[in-house]
Amino acid sequence: MPLPPVPRPVLLAVALVLVLVCWRQWAPVSYWYLFGFPCKAVWLRWSWRHVASGCGLTKKRNRWWFTTVPGLVSSTGVVRVKRRLQRVAVDTKPWMGLPRPTRHGFRVTFHLLDGQIPEDYAKVCDRLAHAWRIEAVRVVGSRPGRVTLQGINRDPLAHVIPAVAPVEPPDGWRAEDLLRPVVGVLETGAPWRMDFRLIPHWMNAGATQSGKSNLINALIVGLAPQPVALVGFDLKGGVELSPYTPRLTALATTRGECLDLLADLIGVMGARMLACRWLAVRDIWQLPDASRPIPVVVMVDEIAELFLTADKAEKDQVTRTATALLRIAQLGRAFGIHLVLSGQRIGSDLGPGVTALRAQIGGRVCHRVNDPETAVMTLGDLDPDALVAARSIPPELPGVAVVTGSDGRWYRARSGYVSTAVAEQVATAYAHLTPSWAQVATSGLGHDLAPASENPQIAA
Ligand SMILES: Nc1ncnc2c1ncn2[C@@H]1O[C@H](COP(=O)(O)OP(=O)(O)OP(=O)(O)O)[C@@H](O)[C@H]1O
Ligand SMILES: [Mg+2]
Repeated sequence: MPLPPVPRPVLLAVALVLVLVCWRQWAPVSYWYLFGFPCKAVWLRWSWRHVASGCGLTKKRNRWWFTTVPGLVSSTGVVRVKRRLQRVAVDTKPWMGLPRPTRHGFRVTFHLLDGQIPEDYAKVCDRLAHAWRIEAVRVVGSRPGRVTLQGINRDPLAHVIPAVAPVEPPDGWRAEDLLRPVVGVLETGAPWRMDFRLIPHWMNAGATQSGKSNLINALIVGLAPQPVALVGFDLKGGVELSPYTPRLTALATTRGECLDLLADLIGVMGARMLACRWLAVRDIWQLPDASRPIPVVVMVDEIAELFLTADKAEKDQVTRTATALLRIAQLGRAFGIHLVLSGQRIGSDLGPGVTALRAQIGGRVCHRVNDPETAVMTLGDLDPDALVAARSIPPELPGVAVVTGSDGRWYRARSGYVSTAVAEQVATAYAHLTPSWAQVATSGLGHDLAPASENPQIAA
C-alpha cells in the first residue's frame, strides 16, 4: 500500500533541522556566531525576569501600579472588576545589557540594584549556568554599579591545549614584559598568564599525575627566552629538571645542595637590598634597565622532600631550609627573587614552617586533589565554589587546575601540554641566555659584590 504523501511543511522542517545539525557539526564557530548566539541572546533577555527571580537577584520595590479591586458587585449581580492606580511592592530585576558573543559562549553586563555587589552574582553562578543550560558562568569583571558575567557553553579545557610557543618581542624585552609568561588558557578562553610581577610567588599543588611538572615545563618554555635566571630544586634526584640544565643557572638535587643554594640566594638578596638602599629605590624595578639585577625564578619540584625528617640532624636542616624559604618569600619580590613551590600537599603536616610559608605565597594553582584538605590548604579562603571546582577535576584531564587570577578571582585553567622533549629543546635553544651564578650575584650592583658567604659586608 503506498504511503500517504508527507506534507510540505513537515519536509521543510526536517530539512531545516538537518541543515542546522550538519552546520553545527562541521562549522561550530560560524554556527555559534550566526545562529546559536542570536537565538541564545533572545532567549536570555526573554527569560531574564524568571531567572533573576529564581536566583534571588530581584528586589521588591514600591511602584505605582494599576490593581484590580475585587468584589465590586453591580446592581445586576455581576462582579465588576475595577482598576485603580495604587502603590504596590513589585519585583524589580537587574537591568541586563546586550549579550556579546565570545568564541566559547557570551558575555553580558548587568546593572546592580541598590544594595547588590558583584559577589551576589558570583554566589549564584551555578544556578545561572543551570537556568541558561550552559556549562558554567563566571564573574569576569566589575566596576561601580556593574558586573560582567561570562557564560561558557562547553568546557574549553576538555581538549589538550597545545604548548605555548616561546615568545620573543621583536624590539627586545622591556621591563613591563618580563616575568609574565603565558602557560595555558583560562576557561573563559583568555590566556593564562602567571604574572610574577603582580603575584611574586606561586604554589603549584596537586595529586600525583595531575600536571604539576607539566606546568613547570610550560614555565620553562615561557621564561627561557627572557633575560632571567632559572634555578631548579629537584628533590626527585634531578629526574624532572636535569634535562633543562642548559637553561638553568643552578640545579640542586639533594637537601644539602638546596640549603647551600638557598644560602647563596639569601646572600644575593642581601646584596641587592644594600644596592637598592644605596641607590635610594624601593625595589629593583625602579632601577633603569641597564643597572637592574637579573631576576631569578626558583622552581621547586616536590617541596615535601625538603621538609621530611628522619632524625634530629635532619630536623635542624629542615628548620634552616624553612627559614630560608620564608625569608625569600617575604622579601624576594622587591629584589627580583621569585618562588614556584610544587608538591602534592603543602600543609602543616610537613612541619611548623610550612603554614607561615604558605601564608606568604599569593599565587595558587590547585590541580586535581585526592582529599578536600589539600584543596583547602592550597586555595585557602577563596570562594568555597573554588574548592568544589578543584575537587571535581577528573583524572582524565591532567593539567586542569583552579588558579588565582590577576584580578583576585579564581578561574579554571589548563596548562599547555609541554612534553619533556619540547621543554628540553627550548632550554637548549636558549642556553646562550643562561646567566652564570657570578653574573646573577653581581648584576646591576655597579660594583663586584660576591655572594654572601664571600662578602664580609653582607656576612656582617
Ligand atoms: N596540560 C596538560 N595537557 C595534557 N596532558 C597533560 C597536561 N599536564 C599533564 N599532562 C599529562 O599528565 C601526565 C602527568 O603529568 P605530570 O608529570 O606533570 O604530573 P605530576 O603532577 O608532576 O605528577 P607527579 O606528582 O607524579 O610528578 C603527563 O605524562 C602528561 O602526559
Ligand atoms: Mg611531577
